[in-house]
Amino acid sequence: MSQKRVILAGGSGFIGQSLARTLQQQDYEVVILTRMPRERRDGIRELAWDGVHPGPWVDTLEGAEAVVNLAGQNINCPHTPANLQKLTASRVNSVQAIAAALPRLAQPPRVWVQASAVGFYGDAGDQLCTETTPAGTGHLADICRDWEGALHAVPLPRPRTVLLRIGFVLGREGGALPVLSKITKLFLGGAVGSGRQYISWIHITDVTRMFVAAIEQELSGIYNAVGPEPVTNAEFMRQLRRVWHRPWSPPAPAFAVRIGSRLMNSEATLALMSCRSLPRRLEDAGFIFNYPRLEAALRDLCP
Ligand SMILES: NC(=O)c1ccc[n+]([C@@H]2O[C@H](COP(=O)([O-])OP(=O)(O)OC[C@H]3O[C@@H](n4cnc5c(N)ncnc54)[C@H](OP(=O)(O)O)[C@@H]3O)[C@@H](O)[C@H]2O)c1
Repeated sequence: MSQKRVILAGGSGFIGQSLARTLQQQDYEVVILTRMPRERRDGIRELAWDGVHPGPWVDTLEGAEAVVNLAGQNINCPHTPANLQKLTASRVNSVQAIAAALPRLAQPPRVWVQASAVGFYGDAGDQLCTETTPAGTGHLADICRDWEGALHAVPLPRPRTVLLRIGFVLGREGGALPVLSKITKLFLGGAVGSGRQYISWIHITDVTRMFVAAIEQELSGIYNAVGPEPVTNAEFMRQLRRVWHRPWSPPAPAFAVRIGSRLMNSEATLALMSCRSLPRRLEDAGFIFNYPRLEAALRDLCP
């Protein structure tokens, strides 16, 4: 039997590379859509797309098992009006490009798995956010609403769609954990701001397994792709200090975080906003976490 094909739009990044490796190990044919295709020797194919227009890449969707869309400019940049526009456009355009490809296919992919983020809920304090919680306010919520809105606007008939609202992904090869580890080792890993803001974290292995579950199981609709144990920033930093053997570090007040973020070409909001979301629908679907507890996740990733 020929291999089932999965197309990863924006699959060259942190989550995409983990998912590509996992799918390949599970005997899928993996094709990545990227703006800068490279020759690879690992059997994964990279094809050019611009993330905006249908092009020759459309052919690879014909008869595919799944298309997974991870494309979007990285959120870790100053949230200036110009950058906010690019953050939104890169997400909405990629959804619309895939949508425009579908009517050209005799046999569209069986499932479309679309990334979104728990930023959808805005700065929600200690409110528990499940998939039925309405959108919050603020620019991250606005971006996610437009992003998800583009998927909801895809005309019927369309493939089975699964939308994963992803939390703060912990991994060795991307995301914020390597940076947080570095500053923690320099005795600068204190609580950030009030320290009371929640972090909805998830281990890269588990978020990768959720994407595979979205492809292979009959999931449909919106799912929070977060671990079952969101913690406050103070608790997160305490546990991170513990794995790096740094018993204490001075807290970083919000104004210092704002200055530091500017110097690092980043955005303080990402560290100061609070999101306490739960993976209710995935747990209801029987998803079992490899890393439900923060301590074990950090011990695995910070050896
Ligand atoms: N990692 C997290 O903690 C997290 C949390 C919540 C949500 N998410 C979302 O999940 C998705 C994947 O996350 P990730 O951590 O793997 O992100 P990533 O490492 O930044 O990768 C995203 C990919 O999007 C592509 N891209 C960037 N700008 C683009 C543009 N203007 N047009 C088209 N494609 C563009 C890039 O591919 P090329 O440069 O090769 O084209 C890049 O490899 C993203 O949409 C992200 O917002 C991630």
